[in-house]
Amino acid sequence: MPTDDLVLRRLTPADMPQVEELDTLVFLEEASSEAERVLYEEITGLDLGRGIGVFDGTELAGVGTIAALEMSVPGGLLPMAGVLIIGVKPTHRRRGIMTRMIRHQLRELHEEGLEPVAGLTASESVIYGRFGYGQASYGGYFAVPRERSALRPVAGIDDVRIRLVPTADSVAVCEQIHARQVGKRPGMLVRPEPWGRWYAADFDRRRAGRSAKRTVLAERGGERVGYARYRTRDETGANGVATGYTDIEEIHADDAAAFAALSRYLLGIDLTGGARFWRQPVDSPLMYLLEDLRAADMRVREVLYLRLVDVDRALAGRVYAHPIDLVLEVTDGLCPWNAGRWRLTGDEKTAQCVPTDASADLVIDVRELAAVYLGGTTFAALEQAALVTESRPGAVLDASRAFATPLAPWLQFGI
Ligand SMILES: CC(C)(COP(=O)(O)OP(=O)(O)OC[C@H]1O[C@@H](n2cnc3c(N)ncnc32)[C@H](O)[C@@H]1OP(=O)(O)O)[C@@H](O)C(=O)NCCC(=O)NCCS
Repeated sequence: MPTDDLVLRRLTPADMPQVEELDTLVFLEEASSEAERVLYEEITGLDLGRGIGVFDGTELAGVGTIAALEMSVPGGLLPMAGVLIIGVKPTHRRRGIMTRMIRHQLRELHEEGLEPVAGLTASESVIYGRFGYGQASYGGYFAVPRERSALRPVAGIDDVRIRLVPTADSVAVCEQIHARQVGKRPGMLVRPEPWGRWYAADFDRRRAGRSAKRTVLAERGGERVGYARYRTRDETGANGVATGYTDIEEIHADDAAAFAALSRYLLGIDLTGGARFWRQPVDSPLMYLLEDLRAADMRVREVLYLRLVDVDRALAGRVYAHPIDLVLEVTDGLCPWNAGRWRLTGDEKTAQCVPTDASADLVIDVRELAAVYLGGTTFAALEQAALVTESRPGAVLDASRAFATPLAPWLQFGI
């Protein structure tokens, strides 16, 4: 169906009511309260000038916004265009509106030399691969039964005191702790104000039969060294045994003892059947601290979808674990400026990426290049799925070593 009659233009503050209505509609949510609406407007309004809408007359048919974010990569922080609220009205779907918006976003980022990468979290995994977004980081879910939640001993755990504080008053202290964690792993985002308030907020419609949001601080010698936010669900089986749980929304700590102390507290709350840790790093310390790992229900799923807007700027925007000198032949069906051969040279301190006529060492699509970018997947693993082709023997191994990161990448909060 043609979309020529539809107009793509920048959003303005006057469009906000329609944006909110469309957001609620497409994500099947209840209407938000006044308090949530105000905070949402603050967050969306931060970068509203970068939002686009596709209009059918005066009716908003599709929306897509971009937030200016910063992501940790080996070597520092890289600007990332955070792609938010992509949504198309149910009455206007499968007419190419999303495709038009994504093309527009990527072309604009490229032409204006803005963020070298774009990132998003997807409502469904089948949507974004076609646009060159690759699975760049994963999240782990751990559900741990309380009676089998013992942790291995951790030195210093008993020096950490856990203190409940009112969630509404916890923003400043938690954001300070949170900020210290960014950079410990690749793929973490600096959390802009007022997003910190968003994560502390406790809107009724998000409770889903659970308690208010609780916040605990981990303290050692008067210093705040970690925090967690959680809710509990009160539920009892027919036999009178507790089947409710503690839902952990955030847990951040400066060191292993603080992490273990917070985990021990969360895992041991009376009258619950266990604790559920959402979206943890796939190599979370929990994996190694739980005595009875097999008793935990563990699941892994992809979280961050990353798009290399400009292959050269993105690859030169991080450093490499081993010296590398590699010619990549990149295919890119959507962004022709990326297609071709690129010579990547770099080491632990610096990197360059320039176009070249030299013969290729590896052939890879931009989607797969995004998947390996943060170290969450290796070239060698992709080769096993026939998603990278080696033209020079040894190139896959060289690239795997150079792109590797000591810890798995992690997107620590929802965007
Ligand atoms: C996902 C969504 C934005 C797609 O918008 P749209 O305008 O219908 O998408 P397009 O018409 O541009 O589709 C482009 C292609 O993607 C496919 N596609 C789009 N959404 C898809 C989905 N949810 N599942 C599978 N395929 C999908 C289309 O079939 C089409 O494929 P084709 O090129 O082979 O014909 C829309 O369905 C929506 O708003 N869904 C609910 C909210 C949501 O999930 N948003 C994404 C948040 S991350």
